[in-house]
Amino acid sequence: MTAPKKLFIKTYGCQMNVYDSERMAEALGGQGYIETQNADDADMILLNTCHIREKAAEKVYSELGRFKGLKAENPDLKIGVAGCVAQAEGEEIMRRQPLVDLVVGPQSYHRLPEMEARTRTGEKALDTDFPEEDKFEKLKSWPKAARGPTAFLTVQEGCDKFCAFCVVPYTRGAEVSRPADRILTEARDLVERGVREITLLGQNVNAYHGAGPGGDLTLAQLIWELDKIDGLARIRFTTSHPNDMADDLIEAHGTCSKLMPYLHLPVQSGSDHILKRMNRSHTADSYLRLIERIRTARPDILLSGDFIVGFPEETEADFQATLDLIEEVGYGYAYSFKYSTRPGTPAAERPQVEEDVKSDRLQRLQALITHQQRAVQDSMIDKEISVLFEKPGRQEGQMGGKSEYLHAVHVANAKVNVGDIRKVRVIGSGTNSLSGKLV
Ligand code: 5AD
Ligand code: SF4
Repeated sequence: MTAPKKLFIKTYGCQMNVYDSERMAEALGGQGYIETQNADDADMILLNTCHIREKAAEKVYSELGRFKGLKAENPDLKIGVAGCVAQAEGEEIMRRQPLVDLVVGPQSYHRLPEMEARTRTGEKALDTDFPEEDKFEKLKSWPKAARGPTAFLTVQEGCDKFCAFCVVPYTRGAEVSRPADRILTEARDLVERGVREITLLGQNVNAYHGAGPGGDLTLAQLIWELDKIDGLARIRFTTSHPNDMADDLIEAHGTCSKLMPYLHLPVQSGSDHILKRMNRSHTADSYLRLIERIRTARPDILLSGDFIVGFPEETEADFQATLDLIEEVGYGYAYSFKYSTRPGTPAAERPQVEEDVKSDRLQRLQALITHQQRAVQDSMIDKEISVLFEKPGRQEGQMGGKSEYLHAVHVANAKVNVGDIRKVRVIGSGTNSLSGKLV
């Protein structure tokens, strides 16, 4: 028997890339690859890349440069670029970095095994098609290895919203939903392998409308189907657009006990003028009213959001409106970014905000958010929460997991197993986590 070849995958960007990396590793498993955590002894290095902001894309090129030495030591080493930078820049990557043997976009990675075989004959392989066939169907069946207690499951890809700053509609293509039966089969398989919590993924996950037996299913209907799976204890979904928060999904937050009280609902800005320029097709007020309805359905829901500061033409008053909105909502988590010019998107052509103004706004916004996050986390003290234990903590006897609100929780001297869900009383709140004791 020949020794297995080693695959090193580095994943950048969103959770959908994390899921894709798992599937790519499995696909290459059929070519005799096993994963390694160490690039130095790899036979193939794959960077699964993100193109959402300029810095993310530039990181890829600097990372590739670092592999020069490895390739000199091992001429058989193959280097591949996958993900959204691959999709957006295609052949340009091979031109800019001749070390690269393979470039594969997010919609064609089911063709990886055949592409890898071509690189072994000395060819370069490039595929950034948006093929007709369903890549998930074409991917080899999953090896039946045990899994940890949490898993991602992509149910929808692509985006038709065309926010003026965003490359996703170009790199990931139009919105496509996977058929419900295939998602349910994959979910049952994950549960059989030890998974207790599934996070449904999509660039616009709440626009899900996958084929079901009696017509298309909404995301809420899909969640109710998943709810029937014995052994599956928790369901989450991300990322959502405010305009696709349908009534049945809001209602499910109040009625489906497996659906966790956490919602990532990006608003990007609190200024109607900027929201309009961003092509978001909602206002700050309509967002706030939506939050009110969601909180009526599920009062304890923890909200998180994404914010962009320094979008073209954003004034101090526009920025203040964003701070006001954040004050009003009270986020448990938030992710904030300086606007990054993406070539080919409409906002790239508009008058840009100065870099130091962007930096100043980001700092102010992050200070507010940090304060808010901490307040929400501190408010958990003395409360009883439920924790899904995922792994041993750093200290002896300690176990770590996540609460229903997605807070990291540590419990000392916890006699529990990975995968257990137990009631915990919160006794402390640290920088990024809670501590508690079993009830
Ligand atoms: N610049 C800065 N942030 C961006 N995002 C998307 N495109 C850009 C950009 N050009 C942010 C949005 C989105 C998150 C995934 O990334 O806030 O919700
Ligand atoms: Fe990008 Fe807007 Fe689509 Fe989100 S909704 S992926 S920000 S275009």
